[in-house]
Amino acid sequence: MIRSKILGIGSYVPDRVVTNDEIRFLNHNHVRCEEQQTETNDEWIRARTGIEERRYVPNDGKWVTSDLALHASKAALADADVAAEDIDCIILGTLSPDIHFPGTAVFLQDKLGIATEDGCACYDIRQQCSGFVYGLEMADAFIQAGKYEKILLVGAELHSHSLDFSTRGRDVMVLFGDGAGAMIIGKQDTEDPKAGVLYTHSQANGAGAWNLYLKAFDIGKVPMVYYDGNDPEQNWDMYPHMKGKQVFMHAVRNMVAATKRALEKTGLTWDDIDWFVPHQANLRINEQVVKYAQIPPEKALNTIMFYGNTTAATVPLTIDHWRKEGKVKEGDLVLSTVFGAGFTWGSAIFQI
Ligand code: UT7
Repeated sequence: MIRSKILGIGSYVPDRVVTNDEIRFLNHNHVRCEEQQTETNDEWIRARTGIEERRYVPNDGKWVTSDLALHASKAALADADVAAEDIDCIILGTLSPDIHFPGTAVFLQDKLGIATEDGCACYDIRQQCSGFVYGLEMADAFIQAGKYEKILLVGAELHSHSLDFSTRGRDVMVLFGDGAGAMIIGKQDTEDPKAGVLYTHSQANGAGAWNLYLKAFDIGKVPMVYYDGNDPEQNWDMYPHMKGKQVFMHAVRNMVAATKRALEKTGLTWDDIDWFVPHQANLRINEQVVKYAQIPPEKALNTIMFYGNTTAATVPLTIDHWRKEGKVKEGDLVLSTVFGAGFTWGSAIFQI
């Protein structure tokens, strides 16, 4: 039987570490000031989210999301021992695209040196924190259908340029970090029932859309950008807005249901699965999912303490982090469950 196979994994985070203690002193240019800029503190952030630090790109105006994607993609290609020229499809998940259009995948293709007259298909997907499972589902369907043979699946985010570094935006600002994760998905012919990608299922409930969103512009208005970005009285629409408690509640409920469904549909149990890799939005969400879905706690992998929430990048970044630490090994079976803006959510079971 034809199954999708993960041929390689890579990730990238910028060098700059921003601790909880430092973040309250940063201004909008990410410069550390003498005076506190945001009323927040390490104790609150750790207790409510589990985050200890996150990574930011240098604020020199030279970084865009496709640069982070490029680093992660190169690492995944090297890990898979696949040449960029052999990629026949790119699927890139991000909520922080380089520009409004074209999509970020075409910029990545160009940076990989494979933008030609005969260039591969490039998809951008906008499923926020659920980007990885949605993207894997697409990649798996393409492979099963025989449409493409070597797919580059990337989640990349540059959040630090679109956060409100003031007390007004603190509930969201402290959560997010910059980073990218990538996988190369190929094809295999196997009779092993546990080989490759075993299961994917994506869902959404658009009634939840206004619980977590970033407008930036409003296409219903003329001009579509209707505020002065430098004026704090006007520029609130430039930043993400979140009804945190609503998102938290829906995240736990849907992640528990999606995780249980993945096991029911595949007939697998936690004895078969090596690792649970949830989206990294809040350590308390993940702890509750572990509890209510009855997941062995020692099988849950988190990285939110090191990187914060990197939305579409969290799952491949977490797998790669713990692979480099020697915990996750080739052949291990992972159940991953995600939840994000939209609302969107889903689960996947796959072999590393
Ligand atoms: O990745 C996409 C999905 N995103 C998520 O899943 C995020 C889901 N939501 C959450 O993780 C949590 O709701 C938050 C971490 C965002 C907030 O935690 P919470 O326990 O729900 O706190 P809250 O919003 O109820 O706020 C409690 C208090 C408020 O003060 P008052 O009104 O009680 O005086 C907030 O103003 O904490 C205050 N607060 C902060 N204090 C210090 C909010 N943000 C901060 C902050 N530092 N950064």
